[in-house]
Amino acid sequence: MVSFQSKWLYLLIFLGIQLLVMALLSLGGYQERVTYFIRIFRKPEAPGLSNRNHSVANITGGDVYANLSHSPKPHSHGDAMPYCPKTSPLIGGPIHVSFPSGLTLADVQSKNTLVLRGGRYRPPDCKARHRTAIIIPYRHRELHLKFLLYNMHPFLQRQQLNYGIYVIHQAGDYTFNRAKLMNVGFREAMKEEDWDCLFFHDVDLIPEDDRNTYICDSNPKHAAIAMDKFGYKLPYKMYFGGVSALTPLHYHKINGFPNNYWGWGGEDDDIGVRVSLAGMFISRPSSKVGRYKMIKHKRDKGNDVNPKRFNMLAKTRQTWKRDGMNTVDYEVISRMYLPLYTNITVNIGTEAGLHPNPPKPPPPAKAAEKPAAGAPAKGSTKLKENHSEK
Ligand SMILES: *[C@@H]1O[C@H](CO)[C@@H](O)[C@H](O)[C@H]1NC(C)=O
Ligand SMILES: *[C@@H]1O[C@H](CO)[C@@H](O)[C@H](O)[C@H]1NC(C)=O
Ligand SMILES: *[C@@H]1O[C@H](CO)[C@@H](O)[C@H](O)[C@H]1NC(C)=O
Ligand SMILES: *[C@@H]1O[C@H](CO)[C@@H](O)[C@H](O)[C@H]1NC(C)=O
Ligand SMILES: *[C@@H]1O[C@H](CO)[C@@H](O)[C@H](O)[C@H]1NC(C)=O
Repeated sequence: MVSFQSKWLYLLIFLGIQLLVMALLSLGGYQERVTYFIRIFRKPEAPGLSNRNHSVANITGGDVYANLSHSPKPHSHGDAMPYCPKTSPLIGGPIHVSFPSGLTLADVQSKNTLVLRGGRYRPPDCKARHRTAIIIPYRHRELHLKFLLYNMHPFLQRQQLNYGIYVIHQAGDYTFNRAKLMNVGFREAMKEEDWDCLFFHDVDLIPEDDRNTYICDSNPKHAAIAMDKFGYKLPYKMYFGGVSALTPLHYHKINGFPNNYWGWGGEDDDIGVRVSLAGMFISRPSSKVGRYKMIKHKRDKGNDVNPKRFNMLAKTRQTWKRDGMNTVDYEVISRMYLPLYTNITVNIGTEAGLHPNPPKPPPPAKAAEKPAAGAPAKGSTKLKENHSEK
């Protein structure tokens, strides 16, 4: 009798432990936990260039703010300025990425005195060889944006680029649509300047090596090849997520990005497929250089996993020509030239279209419609467009 009871007891304990393990695994960071367990059995990777120590934890990168010019050097304005050297002398290799506590945007601003309104920059002492726009799809990530700006501005200045940073902010609370926001960013950025390269950049990825130059290649480039999240390895061969770079020509060749991936996942693979359907290849920096640190976070509200992503992905071949840059519809709600970036807030609608509620009849006398549209004057202070209601 006693032994019979204790058998049941053991069985109960056993079941209890199983339940606990299952609960732990399903608690969000399932993937991280699994990779963690796998990593325990692997030898640590040598992250650096030469035969590095086994003290992997030690990041020997330099301060990204070292060696930047803070005051414009006196130079004769205009054509007399020489081109910047082909390789910037300010580049130093691995960077120590830091997230200083208590950092404010004002701090970032005071450390980047040469950045102009709207997050624009040109090297003070030479003519840049490249014009790069950074497009950041965005919603509710103030902290990430702050850290990205803190690390990104000096990173780009070290590369002696003419650059601009665009934050494309999805208005409202409807499911997030990263790829459509990037289409908006492409169109709006190209209205302002003849950028020769566009970097489509997640807000939570910080580059860790400034030899990862933010310029375009002859093929679309996937820059975020080695993220800490994936153990600094490419998760799979066709991966195109995180940070990618296309010229306007590449962008038109693939008909931009898909507009109908609402929620998390799939859109980056769709873009990768578009690249090969358009007869191009994915170019990548070396994994020593294309390294990124991801700012840890929980999945955002309003960005749930897109359950349709695999079905949609299977149809990219049929859909890519009729869904993309040629069909993107949106309304710019505001455009603000802030000290460290341009904030373009945009209504991209929902799966049911741009105006899911039946549109109200237009007001009888459309009073004094502003000329709006077109490129706003460069360096203008603060401009709010008011195309739409709300
Ligand atoms: C490893 O690190 C120690 C101290 O941190 C240093 O003295 C040694 O030279 C390093 N070895 C290599 C191969 O870098
Ligand atoms: C990490 O590297 C720095 C210099 O780059 C050195 O001062 C420090 O002692 C190193 N820390 C460890 C734990 O090896
Ligand atoms: C700073 O820049 C100068 C050239 O402008 C270069 O010679 C030097 O190596 C750089 N120093 C660092 C720490 O990057
Ligand atoms: C961008 O502008 C919108 C509208 O003015 C504002 O609600 C939002 O907070 C701004 N976002 C950022 C990151 O500046
Ligand atoms: C936008 O339009 C509304 C009404 O049409 C008006 O009340 C509001 O002041 C406008 N906002 C701006 C920034 O022009």
